[in-house]
Formats: sequence, C-alpha cells, structure tokens
Amino acid sequence: MIQECRLFSYLLSASSPERFVMLYRFLTLLRNALCRLISLPGAFRAYALFVVFSIATVSLLFVAGCHKPTLAETYVASFVGNTACASCHQKEFDVHHTTRHATTLRAVNKKGLDTLPLTTGRIADSAYALYDNGDGFSFGWKNKTEGAMPLQLALGSDRIAYTFVNTMDNHSIMEFRESYHPASKAWHTTPGHDSSETETLGKVYEQSIGRRCLGCHAVVLPVDSVTPDPKFYGVGCESCHGPGKKHVEAVQSGNMTELNMVKLGTLGAEKLNHLCGKCHRNAEDVAPDQMDMTQRFAAFGVSRSRCFRESNDRLTCIKCHNRHTNVSEDKKRYEQTCLSCHTAKPASFGPSEGGKACPVNPKTGCIPCHMPKRAAGPGKFADHYIRVFSTKELATP
Ligand code: HEC
Ligand code: HEC
Ligand code: HEC
Ligand code: HEC
Ligand code: HEC
Ligand code: HEC
Ligand code: HEC
Repeated sequence: MIQECRLFSYLLSASSPERFVMLYRFLTLLRNALCRLISLPGAFRAYALFVVFSIATVSLLFVAGCHKPTLAETYVASFVGNTACASCHQKEFDVHHTTRHATTLRAVNKKGLDTLPLTTGRIADSAYALYDNGDGFSFGWKNKTEGAMPLQLALGSDRIAYTFVNTMDNHSIMEFRESYHPASKAWHTTPGHDSSETETLGKVYEQSIGRRCLGCHAVVLPVDSVTPDPKFYGVGCESCHGPGKKHVEAVQSGNMTELNMVKLGTLGAEKLNHLCGKCHRNAEDVAPDQMDMTQRFAAFGVSRSRCFRESNDRLTCIKCHNRHTNVSEDKKRYEQTCLSCHTAKPASFGPSEGGKACPVNPKTGCIPCHMPKRAAGPGKFADHYIRVFSTKELATP
C-alpha cells in the first residue's frame, strides 16, 4: 500500500508531459461527470456520487499499480549502503571504509581524490595532458584544449594503478588511455589499449561492458545506467554479505530469530571462494587463453590447487585473508596457515589424509617458493595456484 501511495504521488508530481496530460484528461472527465450528477434528484444523487468516487479511487489505484517496480528494480532497492550498516556495526565499518575494497571506486573531484596528488600538465611519453576544470581534472590532447573530457570516476588503488572513466550518457563508458601508477608517480598506457593509437582519448565500451566494469568496483548499479549511486561506490558490506534491507528491517522490528543475513563464516571453501570469485574470477570467468594467469585471478588459482581440492572444503580465502582489511604482507602469517595443514604429522581431512611436510624446507619460506609473485600487466600478483614451481618459472616471474 505504501508502495502504491508513493507511486501515485510520483504520478502526480511527475514532470513527464504524458502523465500530466493523462491526469488532466482524467480530472476533466471527473469534473464533467460530477456537474451532471449534482443536477440529479436527492437520494439518487448521493448513490451516484458514491459509485463515481469508488470507480475513481479504484482506477487511480489501478493506474498507480501499472507502475509496479520490476524484479530488477526491487533487487536494486534491497541494498542500503555501508553507512546504513554503520549505525549498528561501527567496528566493522571503521575497519572497512579506508580499505582498497571500499575505495576502489571514487569520484575524481578535488575532494574525492585528496589522497591522490594528480597535477595538471602534459603526460610524459604520450599525446595527452591533464587540464584543471574547476572541480577536478579533464583528460585531453596536449596540443589542443578542445575535446577534453572530465575524469569522472577513478577505479583502482595505491597498490598498482588508477584507471579513469567518464560515464558518458550513463549508457556507455569512456576508459581513458592513460592510467596513473602511484608507486612510480607516473602514467602508463592502460592495459588493453594501444599506445600508438592517439586519435581518441581512450576506449568507449557499450553498456553491457561498462556495467560489468563498474559492477565489480561498486555494490550495485541502477537498472538502466552504468553510473552507481555514490553510496554504492567501491566493494561494500553488501558486496559480500548480500542486500541488507530485510536484515535491517528484521533487527529494527525486534526479530532476532530470523536475521535475514547469510552466515558467511559457516560457508565451506567452495561456496565462500565462489562468492569472492564473482569479482576475483572463478574458473568459468576465465578465457581459454588466460588459463595460465593464475596470479591475476585469485579464486581461479585457488580452485586449481591441490591444497583446495584435497582438503575437504576447508581452504577458504579467509583462512589467509582478514575479510575486512587490506592484504597483509607479513609472510609469517601466511606460513602459519600453510603449517596448519603441512606438518610432519599430516592432518586428516575426512576421506583423505593430506598436508605432507615439505621435503625442501618444512619450516619456513613457503610463500616465495610456492606462491611467488608473478607479473600480469602493470603489476605483480601472488600466484594463487599453490604448487611446486620449477627453478626456471621462479627465475622468470
Ligand atoms: C539496526 C541495527 C542493524 C543494522 C542497521 C545492521 N545490522 Fe547487522 N546485525 C544486527 C544485530 C543486532 C545482529 C545480531 C547480533 C550480532 O551478531 O551482532 C546483526 C548481525 C549481523 C551479522 C552476523 C550474522 C550472523 O548470523 O552471524 C552480519 C554479517 C551483519 N549483521 C551484517 C550487516 C550488514 C552488512 C548491514 C548493512 C547492510 C547490517 N548488518 C545492518 C544489527 C544491525
Ligand atoms: C564486488 C567485487 C568483489 C568482491 C565480491 C570481492 N572483492 Fe576483493 N577486490 C575487489 C576489487 C575491485 C579489488 C581491488 C581493489 C583495489 O586495489 O583497487 C579487490 C581487492 C582484494 C584484495 C587485495 C586488497 C589489497 O590490500 O590490495 C584482497 C585480499 C581481496 N580483494 C580479497 C577478497 C576476498 C577474500 C573476498 C571474498 C570474501 C573478496 N575479495 C570479494 C573486488 C571484490
Ligand atoms: C569481474 C570483475 C571485474 C571487472 C569486470 C573489472 N574489474 Fe577491475 N578489478 C577487479 C578485481 C578483483 C581487482 C583486483 C585484482 C587483484 O588485485 O588481484 C581489480 C583491479 C582493478 C584495478 C587496480 C589495478 C590492477 O590492475 O589490479 C583497476 C585500475 C581496475 N580494476 C579497473 C577496471 C576497469 C577500468 C574495468 C572495466 C573496463 C574493470 N576493472 C573491470 C575486478 C573486476
Ligand atoms: C570482502 C567481503 C566482505 C566485505 C566487503 C564485508 N564483509 Fe563482513 N564478513 C565477511 C566474511 C567472509 C565474514 C565471515 C567471517 C568469519 O566468520 O570468519 C564477515 C563477517 C561479518 C560480521 C560477523 C562478525 C564477524 O566479525 O565475524 C559482521 C557483523 C560483518 N561482517 C559486517 C560487515 C560490515 C558492516 C561491512 C561493511 C562495513 C562488511 N562486513 C564488509 C566478508 C565481508
Ligand atoms: C586446508 C589445508 C591446507 C592448507 C592451509 C595448505 N595446504 Fe597445501 N596441500 C593440502 C593438501 C591436502 C595437499 C595435497 C596432499 C599433499 O601433497 O600433502 C596439498 C598440496 C600442496 C602442495 C603440492 C602441490 C602439488 O601440486 O603436488 C604444495 C607445494 C603445497 N600444498 C603448499 C602449500 C603452501 C605453501 C601453503 C600455504 C601458502 C599450503 N599448501 C596451504 C592442504 C593444505
Ligand atoms: C594459502 C593462503 C592464501 C589463500 C587461501 C588465499 N590467498 Fe590471497 N594472497 C595470499 C598471499 C601470500 C598473498 C600475497 C601477499 C603479499 O602481498 O605479500 C595474497 C594476495 C592476494 C591479493 C592481492 C593481489 C595479489 O595477488 O598479490 C588478492 C586480491 C587475493 N590474495 C585474493 C584472494 C582470494 C579472492 C582468495 C580466495 C579465492 C585468496 N586470496 C586466497 C595467500 C592466500
Ligand atoms: C626454497 C624453496 C622452498 C621452500 C622455502 C619451501 N618449499 Fe615446499 N617444495 C619446494 C620444492 C622444490 C618441492 C618439490 C620437492 C620434490 O618434488 O622433490 C617442494 C614440495 C613441497 C610439497 C609437496 C610434498 C610432497 O611430497 O608432495 C609441499 C606440501 C610443500 N613443499 C609445502 C611447503 C611448505 C608448507 C613450506 C613452508 C613451511 C615450503 N614448502 C617451503 C620448495 C620449497
């Protein structure tokens, strides 16, 4: 009912000309009918008025009902955003909101990029330049100021690179040719682009690709646009926990028995890793010619490892990673996880017994030998296909 009221008030306040005309005709008809009724005799008049008002009410509700949200709209509306979770889960919010997950998408205005010191001027070794556009920066050619386009959104983080996009008309995106690498404070050609191509500012992707791109760097997108609401920028609480509206409603109404919230900690490795893999790529998302990129696609890498396949659904991502923080670089921490399975006395994993100790070094140094960092495009990533690497592979990462 609240839904209907909201839709009806929307119908009334809508600026859409069609709706206005429709409503105007409807009211005129109603007025004419009323005028005729008022001239009728007493009892008959009251009865007829009642009938007219009933029909009017029913038809108004019917009109409102025609605008029922679609399934997709209802789905989008079931997300509430990180700050709504913060009111009750302040601790998790405080830890998460500065992480690379949370900030992997942000607006490129002076406020949104306070941690990234972009400067105007020519971009070395390229045909391009950055211009100040008052609120932020525009990307254009260095020999002319016309045609420059605002850098609207930044994807990525300080770990490897920021790639910039402009969301055009909300139906496609422009991915700019140059990306910024904070470690070297330099710009490099965006992966997948041809650096000798300087006719355009970058690549334009149609809506479905634009949606995929921003869909992994935001919580949820509107049904018919590539541009997320700012409250959904970045990988948020609901990217992992699922839409939270019903959970919030349940708690607020005092229903503590049906929390409407998946217990992620109780999921086995297969399911949990698959959830992370919707962005960190599961096997089905990897193109045949990228099957050796197990460093780039963490979830795919883990799924190929014997550690995962032969440990009875135990090797979850969160055995090695804190789910709410940035990645740790403390190798010892990871070794502890390796050693929780690989000991002189192998653990028992149900039907199989696994986790032999290493014949080369049973105590330390596991990561550089069995999960070495390998290059992929502009960065180096830990290979999540845990295995024995040949000396040659280790020498040419
Ligand atoms: C009105 C308060 C409130 C809001 C808002 C809220 N939660 Fe909760 N949440 C609770 C309470 C109460 C519990 C149950 C007690 C506990 O585990 O802390 C809970 C439990 C949880 C759990 C653990 C579930 C379990 O069964 O182990 C998760 C995960 C969670 N909330 C996530 C979220 C997320 C994500 C959001 C935002 C979309 C959110 N919550 C918003 C109050 C809230
Ligand atoms: C909605 C997509 C999405 C989901 C779901 C997701 N991630 Fe991520 N994750 C990303 C993106 C995008 C980045 C890159 C952030 C950056 O550096 O800009 C990232 C980065 C990371 C990093 C590196 C962080 C750092 O400090 O550099 C780790 C570790 C990670 N994710 C683990 C996980 C785990 C574990 C899960 C599942 C529990 C998960 N992610 C679920 C999209 C996702
Ligand atoms: C299937 C989900 C997915 C899609 C689609 C996707 N990304 Fe990402 N992106 C990720 C994940 C996950 C990471 C983190 C990878 C890691 O650190 O292992 C990431 C990392 C990045 C980074 C950080 C640098 C790097 O190379 O790690 C940038 C920049 C980036 N993505 C930009 C984009 C742009 C631009 C698009 C679209 C044109 C896009 N991404 C599409 C999931 C996705
Ligand atoms: C990258 C995925 C991811 C993101 C993003 C994320 N969580 Fe979690 N969260 C998890 C996983 C996985 C668990 C289960 C961990 C476990 O049981 O060991 C969890 C557990 C929780 C719990 C249960 C208590 C606990 O610590 O075990 C709460 C509450 C919670 N998250 C709230 C939030 C809130 C609020 C946000 C956003 C501010 C958030 N989470 C963001 C993956 C995520
Ligand atoms: C949940 C338990 C578990 C964890 C944690 C684990 N492994 Fe394993 N791993 C196994 C099992 C089971 C096998 C298969 C039986 C065997 O070789 O012991 C295996 C196999 C291996 C192999 C042989 C691979 C092959 O292709 O023959 C290597 C190398 C290895 N693990 C290294 C590691 C390292 C390094 C870590 C930490 C980064 C680690 N494992 C974490 C359970 C685990
Ligand atoms: C056995 C331990 C282990 C497991 C399980 C594991 N990781 Fe990692 N992960 C690591 C190590 C080690 C690093 C490198 C940390 C560093 O930078 O020193 C890493 C780094 C990452 C990074 C940062 C980019 C990179 O590759 O260096 C991402 C993203 C990531 N892991 C995602 C995942 C996801 C998603 C899963 C589950 C599918 C997962 N990891 C499971 C050990 C693990
Ligand atoms: C200096 C590199 C190096 C270090 C450090 C190292 N390993 Fe190994 N590991 C190897 C090599 C090489 C093999 C293959 C040996 C063979 O096949 O004879 C191996 C084999 C293994 C195997 C397979 C055993 C089997 O019989 O199938 C496991 C499991 C393993 N390592 C786990 C670990 C763990 C856990 C650590 C850390 C505590 C570790 N390794 C440290 C290089 C290393």
